[in-house]
Amino acid sequence: HLIGAKQLSRADIEAVLDRAADFDADPAAFADAHPDALLGLCFFEPSTRTKMSFDTAIKRLGGDSVDMGPVESSSVKKGESLADTMRVIAGYTDAIVLRHPSEGAAKLAADFVDVPVINAGDGAGQHPSQTLLDLYTMREASGLDDLTVGIMGDLKYGRTVHSLAEALTTFDARMHFVSPESLRLPRNVRFDLHESGAVVKEHTDLDAVLADLDVLYVTRIQRERFPDENEYRAVAGEYRIDAELLADARDDLTVMHPLPRVDEIAPDVDRTDHAHYFEQAHNGVPVRMALLDSML
Ligand code: CP
Repeated sequence: HLIGAKQLSRADIEAVLDRAADFDADPAAFADAHPDALLGLCFFEPSTRTKMSFDTAIKRLGGDSVDMGPVESSSVKKGESLADTMRVIAGYTDAIVLRHPSEGAAKLAADFVDVPVINAGDGAGQHPSQTLLDLYTMREASGLDDLTVGIMGDLKYGRTVHSLAEALTTFDARMHFVSPESLRLPRNVRFDLHESGAVVKEHTDLDAVLADLDVLYVTRIQRERFPDENEYRAVAGEYRIDAELLADARDDLTVMHPLPRVDEIAPDVDRTDHAHYFEQAHNGVPVRMALLDSML
């Protein structure tokens, strides 16, 4: 199972990224790697990138997928539990990709099935396969050694941030977290970073660190996770970058975003050499090919 980034050692990550580079160089060469593999796609929350790139990845490995489809048209709507749903789908498939609004859902699913479960996002918890493609993108752009990384936006509810921060500790990256006070990293993630000995600083203002960064990882404010819409409105639109602001950054700054973006990155950044977020999304295919290849 792949439930959280803490499971991944530096060697695990490098093995997946190296394999992904092989797939990236020549995806057609692996068209028969897993001809009988069937991947279950179980998305209890919306997705474009994660679902479609896993689907593409298994098909590029010669396998196929079955999709649970929208919750509204599945038997979840009749009250079937997650555990029962997973047990049934595990009987049809060789591995399950699960996205669910509840933190801990992937761990629970893994406890009930005997096929690998990949956590494709569990509420505000973790999104470890996103982390692998994030690291692949960083490695392509600037290497993974001696990095100073700024992570900005919704650090409280942003599961991509939680996984990425934990994985970056294995590369001894220096991390600057930039967010409103109300959206700081959750206590458990701060604790894990502290325990790992990571060099971590927290800020409310990007200007304080922008010029030092090799990578700026911007995230969306996760509106759907706020218990109170007024709390969302109080911070919406506060943390936004545009080309003018990036004039103060290093020329080789890599700007990333797991996407979807709402208004955190102005479209004028897309035309700069800083923009790596679409390439990041495309890297989801070779990286998820490598992950599936390793788990299957
Ligand atoms: N980055 C990401 O998880 O995107 P989706 O929600 O579209 O899968």
